Amino acid sequence: RKKVTIQSLQSQRAAKVPITMMTAYDYPTGLACSSNPDIDITLVGDSLAQVCLGYASTTQLTLTEMIHHTRAVARGTTHPFLVADMPFGTYQISTADAITNAIRLVQDGRVDAVKLEGGVEIVEIVRKLTQAGIPVMAHVGLLPQRHIAMSGYKVQGRSVESAQRVVRDALALQEAGAFSMVVEAVPKELGKYITDRLKIPTIGIGAGPWTSGQVLVWDDAMGTWSGHKAKFVRRFADLKSTREAGLKNYADAVRDRTFPTEDTESYTMDKLEWARFI
Ligand code: KIV
Ligand code: NA
Repeated sequence: RKKVTIQSLQSQRAAKVPITMMTAYDYPTGLACSSNPDIDITLVGDSLAQVCLGYASTTQLTLTEMIHHTRAVARGTTHPFLVADMPFGTYQISTADAITNAIRLVQDGRVDAVKLEGGVEIVEIVRKLTQAGIPVMAHVGLLPQRHIAMSGYKVQGRSVESAQRVVRDALALQEAGAFSMVVEAVPKELGKYITDRLKIPTIGIGAGPWTSGQVLVWDDAMGTWSGHKAKFVRRFADLKSTREAGLKNYADAVRDRTFPTEDTESYTMDKLEWARFI
């Protein structure tokens, strides 16, 4: 498949072909996304913090750690458009700092675009990044990097005031130049309303069936995550059971000496060489 572009994503939105985005965190998961022609966008989400690095929240992830992983995903990426989250603290200090850090993600991390969480308060940063030629994917609704300030991972936009705030954020971010937008954990009605109001594609996660596309965290979708399962998660595979069974089979086989076999899983020395050796 040909490389996905911002333009091809726009065409997909116009043609109402749902956009598929999946997260990846290393070379094998990046390669897996690239091996499926129906995956449009690979996201190195800062969910990396929890699902791969064992941190309690995304706020603990550093830019250096993110770049280390985006480089690995990039080595496995072919046609999907490659996006990385800007980690917490890498775009709040100043616009100059945000541009410097986004350039590091593009140059060292080898991503096509960056994703930033936030609303009207980050609009000037989104504008500057866009003007610098760095495509920005916005992220509105539930903002996991602010889970402490928001007192938990809560559905957003359930009241009139909250819904108006999310819509205002979405419109301002589009106006600032965002090429697409993740809409996380909002009522399905609001997911549809925002998608209809915007000209750019919306990628929903817990935002109902009517956004321009969907995204899930790899470990949620593949069933390798044993932590909390949000309402919006569907397990499309059960790799955890498969993995546990494989590990048990291996340990059992070593313990009962059925692995390796003498015949097919071992090397043999030439008989004459062995006779001379012994
Ligand atoms: O970090 C992440 O994986 C994300 C997606 C779930 C949108 O931001
Ligand atoms: Na994220």
